[in-house]
Amino acid sequence: MDAATTLVIFGATGDLASRLLLPALGQLLTSEPDRRVRVIGAGTEAWSTADLQKVVHASFAASDADASTDRVDISYQQADITKASDLEALLRGLDGQVALYFAVPPAVAAAACDALTPEMLPDGVMLVLEKPFGTNEEGARALNARLAELVPEKQVFRVDHFLGKSTTLNLLGARFANRLLEPLWSAESIESIDIVYDEKLGLEGRAGYYDRAGALVDMIQSHLLQVLAVLAMEQPATLDEADFREATSAVLRATRIMDDDPTASSRRARYTAGAVDGVDKPSYVDEPGVDPKRDTETLAEATFEVRNARWAGVPFTLRSGKALSDPAREIVVRFKAVRHVPAGLTGTAEGAILRFSLGPDRISLEFNLNGADDPFVLERATLSADLGPGELLAYAEVLSGILDADPTLSVRGDAAEQCWRIVQSVLDSWAHGEVPIDEYQAGSGGPEHWPRIR
Ligand code: BG6
Repeated sequence: MDAATTLVIFGATGDLASRLLLPALGQLLTSEPDRRVRVIGAGTEAWSTADLQKVVHASFAASDADASTDRVDISYQQADITKASDLEALLRGLDGQVALYFAVPPAVAAAACDALTPEMLPDGVMLVLEKPFGTNEEGARALNARLAELVPEKQVFRVDHFLGKSTTLNLLGARFANRLLEPLWSAESIESIDIVYDEKLGLEGRAGYYDRAGALVDMIQSHLLQVLAVLAMEQPATLDEADFREATSAVLRATRIMDDDPTASSRRARYTAGAVDGVDKPSYVDEPGVDPKRDTETLAEATFEVRNARWAGVPFTLRSGKALSDPAREIVVRFKAVRHVPAGLTGTAEGAILRFSLGPDRISLEFNLNGADDPFVLERATLSADLGPGELLAYAEVLSGILDADPTLSVRGDAAEQCWRIVQSVLDSWAHGEVPIDEYQAGSGGPEHWPRIR
């Protein structure tokens, strides 16, 4: 049986632990019966070990992983992780493989990192941080510098669960294992790329965080840029952390807002009162905790360019929004049309479209064939495959890397800084009021005058 990894969860009493982290752990333990984990929960609440056990049981049950609770040794310690003395008491005597998971708001994680010293940390300890990683490029750089004083980069795990999504990982197989696609994957053959992640969900009581972040920071700055990086990277020789992360970082370093014009290359909007799936939603600005003066967007779109030999000139449009009906969640790769269609073959010969849908996972290729009725008239045909859900939740996939001490699917420090650099000009342009904030009714497909991205 494998040696147990100790997972110390800072913020074990919070929403992130019970909603995402613990269900993912349960699923992972179910799929890997030899894996052993010891959980030490810490939080400011006066919980007992029995309280945490109950939460672990409920979270495991939520992911049909009840049976695995027997294999986890659980304990709870009350602690203020921004205090050096509490951290010292919590970490004293821990050995073997240890991961410290900061399931706490970013300001608390930063304060805890300031309170930690290298001497308190067990050898080889992994530090696991959630998004948002800093609130701008400078903040991310300062946090990286602090982390580098504590442990080597390979022991820092910046979580982005989109890197664990099966569709993101499907890009690797589709791109690199098919002669049919691999030579076409560049500006020579590709016209444009859209990466869209629209949601039916509204604010869900998260105003405290979301009203300061907005859709651009919440989704595009982190998740969708990571997907762009995997989609656009040069082929790495191996998928080990050094090769994979260098390839994705290189893409991010080359990424700029289209035409260096954040005003013309971005849009923003927020929802007004409406209904999603028959459930009424108030206007975003009337949601509890929202300050309308912040002008926070709930739908953001921005077009980027990857300025390198492979991609220069190809628009990559990233979009994500909340409270939308029939939400699109997909990567859409539009190929160029052929240069010439033989005279005598009529109908349109638009370029092929390859779509990767993100949940339910599906891949489809739309292309031109001769029509069934008249073989000299072109018709559109679609080949598609349902891929089924990945075996593991995206969070469980990322957690599995952490417990294996493999940071491949975690964001490297320089990439975290680049992601802020990439969106900064858009944030500035919006802050200066250069891009009007449009409105759309909750439950609609977005502002009527926005071009449909599908
Ligand atoms: C989170 C965002 O990181 O990702 C949420 O903060 C968003 O606003 C979520 O809803 C989307 O990811 P998933 O995998 O839950 O659809």
